[in-house]
Amino acid sequence: MGRVLLTRRVPSSVLNLLEVQHAVDVYSGDGAIPRDELIRRVADKDALISVLTDRIDGEVLDAAPALKVVANIAVGYDNIDVPAAVERGVIVTNTPDVLTDAVAELTWALILGIARRIGEADRLVRNGGWKGWALDFMLGTELRGKRLGIIGPGRIGRAVAAKAPAFGMSVAFAGRAKTSQPALLSVDELLVSSDVISIHAPGTPEMRHLINRRTLARMKRSALLVNTARGNAVDEEALAWALDEHLIAGAALDVFEHEPQVHPALIAHERVLLVPHIGSATRETRTAMAELAARNVLGVLSGSGALTPVGS
Ligand code: DGY
Repeated sequence: MGRVLLTRRVPSSVLNLLEVQHAVDVYSGDGAIPRDELIRRVADKDALISVLTDRIDGEVLDAAPALKVVANIAVGYDNIDVPAAVERGVIVTNTPDVLTDAVAELTWALILGIARRIGEADRLVRNGGWKGWALDFMLGTELRGKRLGIIGPGRIGRAVAAKAPAFGMSVAFAGRAKTSQPALLSVDELLVSSDVISIHAPGTPEMRHLINRRTLARMKRSALLVNTARGNAVDEEALAWALDEHLIAGAALDVFEHEPQVHPALIAHERVLLVPHIGSATRETRTAMAELAARNVLGVLSGSGALTPVGS
């Protein structure tokens, strides 16, 4: 029997899966497990089921000499020092595929939301600012005939692209592809030619502030920017500046560089739609993510291997 630490509560069906074979310790406080508690509770564990708010680095790994696997309940794993884990013989797993559709759906919700000014319109009605129908009132922009530029041609980027024909949009991709398909533009070619730019690249250090004053200035003045990947891709201060200067028309962010903090200049801005990192937040998907993480732990502890080790 192995010992497993979960840093968040998971659905009971997932807990049951683990408890059949292993001793399970669940942190059940509200919010993220405090770091000192994580270090204390992981010390005697064989497996750790983490989430993206847990920083799993050399210090945590060194505190847990018996640890065999860190199973992150997320497709992204920028919260884990993977080289440090590899050095210590610890397997790291993530949850690809099961969240692809949920994130793609939220991306389209955001694209439509900024194109048709849904956040602004909702606020106006609630604030009593709606004075009645007018021909030139709350005009948005249509998607038909426009180009969707996707930075990050991975699973989620391609799933977002697959829905573009339903809205009459063409698609271009930039970024690193594992296969030769789809054909790629350079990031600059994509930025200058796209009407909607959506980021789906992993939160690697190279991605940090890909969207900055210089790259924002390369976009069309009518462009809409969407980020459902990782917050570090967008320099939030630069984005607020670009919106103020009317260098781009609007933006929608699901992820932020210093979550849950959001740059105050964005909070105050009408033409940016802000949602709190809910890309994968459907009942179906969050259950599937937790279950996949649990199955990764079961696989490693039984010796049959991880289902989705990172990089697979
Ligand atoms: C992920 O899985 O990386 C998502 O950001 C979680 O919502």
